[in-house]
Amino acid sequence: MSKEVRVVANWKMNKTIKESIEFIQQLDHLIQVISIAAPSTALHSCSQNKPPMVSLGAQNIHFESHGPFTGEISAEMVKDAGAEFVILGHSERRYLFHEDNEFINKKIKHALLSDLQVILCIGENHTERESEQTDEVLKKQLFESLFELTEEQVSQVTIAYEPVWAIGTDLPATPQMAQETHSMLRKLIFEKWGQEMAEKIYILHGGSIKPDNIEELIMQPDIDGVLIGGASLQIDSFLQIIQKAGKYKK
Ligand code: PGA
Repeated sequence: MSKEVRVVANWKMNKTIKESIEFIQQLDHLIQVISIAAPSTALHSCSQNKPPMVSLGAQNIHFESHGPFTGEISAEMVKDAGAEFVILGHSERRYLFHEDNEFINKKIKHALLSDLQVILCIGENHTERESEQTDEVLKKQLFESLFELTEEQVSQVTIAYEPVWAIGTDLPATPQMAQETHSMLRKLIFEKWGQEMAEKIYILHGGSIKPDNIEELIMQPDIDGVLIGGASLQIDSFLQIIQKAGKYKK
């Protein structure tokens, strides 16, 4: 089986509507699908102006579809604005906004019921890596976040492994370290959901990925794509990443 490499941009709290549109219009020559998690304020305008190969996503949703949740946004709302997927469980949500696996699980279920695809982020912090708890921490994040999902639902989820210590630090995981962890994750998926799911599911890598380190990471057998923060904000570095990643098949 051969899979296209998946490239996902996570713009976080960056870019106005005008900046977002100007950026995505520069992607009109692409021949491979790429995904952008834009700020929710820019989703609708981007969806009206985007080139065909760009798929749009949100960076968060609430687990209820409407109600008294001041400042929150629902799956229905981001879908209405043009989102096809949502990033859930990002470490910035886990650490800065205290989201735990149970909370993330509720959001995932709601997103999937609302027909939004999910990118589930997991990752260990520096202390956990140093004290050799990585496998245990990731297993807990993975299974608790996907708790009670049907197989069909799990197949709508993309996993993004992002070591917390590598995010925004310019200290990416080494290719060998990344591969070992991705392979461990695929084995967990195999044990719980079987061979076909383990082969089909996308496991993306993230954390300080730049044009100069993308290839050594994407060539690892268990890295199916990348989630890019900082380097997705500049068109030059993002295009270089897309072009380099596009040379590989999985
Ligand atoms: P980074 O962010 O590429 O800036 O390290 C990745 C992410 O947070 O998804």
